[in-house]
Amino acid sequence: MLWLIVLLVTCLYFYSRKRLKYFSSRGVCTLPPVPLLGNLTAVTLGRENFVEAIAAGYDAFKDQRYFGLYQYLVPTLIPRDPELIRQIMVRDFNSFADRGVHIDADCDPLFGRNLIMLTGSKWRSMRASLSPAFSGARCRSMAPLMADSASAVVNYLRETVKGEQAMDINTITMSYVNDVIASCAFGFAVNSLKEPDNCIFRLGKKAVIQDTNQVMKFFGYENMKSIMKLLQVKIIPTEDAEQFSQLFKSALKARREKLVQPRPDFIQILVDAAQGKAKDTDGNTNNEEKFSDDDLVAQAVLFYIAGYDTTANLIYYFLYEMAVNPRVQDKLYEELSTLPEEEKVQYLYESVQGLEYLDMCVNEVLRLWPLVGSADRRSVAPYDFGPTFPGSKHRLIAPAGIHVWLPIYSIHRDPEYWPEPNVCEPERFSKERKADIVPYTYMPFGNGPRHCIGSRFAVLAAKVFLTKFLRGYKTRAIETSTRLSPRAFILRPADGYQLIVEPRN
Ligand code: HEM
Repeated sequence: MLWLIVLLVTCLYFYSRKRLKYFSSRGVCTLPPVPLLGNLTAVTLGRENFVEAIAAGYDAFKDQRYFGLYQYLVPTLIPRDPELIRQIMVRDFNSFADRGVHIDADCDPLFGRNLIMLTGSKWRSMRASLSPAFSGARCRSMAPLMADSASAVVNYLRETVKGEQAMDINTITMSYVNDVIASCAFGFAVNSLKEPDNCIFRLGKKAVIQDTNQVMKFFGYENMKSIMKLLQVKIIPTEDAEQFSQLFKSALKARREKLVQPRPDFIQILVDAAQGKAKDTDGNTNNEEKFSDDDLVAQAVLFYIAGYDTTANLIYYFLYEMAVNPRVQDKLYEELSTLPEEEKVQYLYESVQGLEYLDMCVNEVLRLWPLVGSADRRSVAPYDFGPTFPGSKHRLIAPAGIHVWLPIYSIHRDPEYWPEPNVCEPERFSKERKADIVPYTYMPFGNGPRHCIGSRFAVLAAKVFLTKFLRGYKTRAIETSTRLSPRAFILRPADGYQLIVEPRN
């Protein structure tokens, strides 16, 4: 028996050594990989967030157009040159139409059906059907619903916060974003601060990926899909998936049977999409493909998977940056003070959209803290990435299937494009200076046809909350640690969400 184990380990070791020569044998720079773990040792041990693993290579190979990183044994290419990023995301999108991770619906019926996971024509069709749900007009009609949820939070704070007080900001942002999604997307009115036990809040929290175990499942699917399939590993546990399914199917049924008034929300778009009524981005009616209820439930859950933690953490990081940059907070407060009294704000959407400095601040916070620090792609055709650096004799010509990670976090903090990159300076996004931004060095929502579908919704939800909150409260920092949590895919603070909140008069 022992000799069999020794034989297996030896074979694995030599196989791993061979795989880990993919880049060096082609003249592509890479940090020294560890057998089997590649460049993700610290990530696997729960010591660093994977964007930090990318940053190590990004900072080491400043003169390269791209470099390599091993996700365990899978060679993954990281482009540094903004022009190459453009080619991958936009110009040659047809060669990079899929994502790196792919989880089949037969393996995880709920997760495998969502837009992020879909590939090929199924993705195109679903994306065209869902896009209208995120249009400017739809978001405009959702602004009052967002304002109601924000008011519920601020009213709660008025009752509970009398003087300055240290507070776990995560509690209020998670409640707010849950209430917004419940209301804008599904027509459920909930107040999660007052009733934290409501079932949609309980379920929503389960869809948030925040432990190393869950993170490892994704890496597992990206690297050893067949083994993960064989083991039937699910991202969303069966019991939670069933509860989500029941909840959203009952909402769909109520809408179909007209038991509730139609509202301009996401669930209505889903009902229309299933009947083939949705319009594509060119305004043509899309009758070609209908979706099953399971497909629709998966898109509903998407809000929680893709939009919940990201939007809540955007609000936290915003309040954190205000806390450590009082000059910026004061300037923003001045702008917010130009708004009429709350009750007299008639055109909420227009008022919030008209706040120029708030917009600059949101852009700057998203530069410093792009919640999704890397976007992924997988090539579906052979691709020539060009020379490794201008004039180099090495170039990578890869067959279909090469994984690509776009280093959003690193490029947002690159001093070549952003002088003093760690300083919060909203003026970088002023009308006068915006034009100086080098294309493809700022992309908190990704880019090209697979960019984030919910960006408008997320930014509006954050702005509505921040406008209400910062008119009534100031934030101050307790400590200034900016360590990233290693136990999440998105950027979130490792050392908690405590800030001091102080009522203004
Ligand atoms: C601050 C909040 C958010 C940030 C920073 C963010 C960021 C991103 C990024 C970087 C991507 C990858 C884009 C690419 O590959 O080019 C993405 C994809 C996606 N996001 Fe968001 N997102 C946010 C909120 C939301 C919300 C509220 C939703 C609502 C449902 C959403 C839904 C999606 C979906 C469905 C995709 C995949 C799109 C596709 O593959 O076609 N996101 N997001």
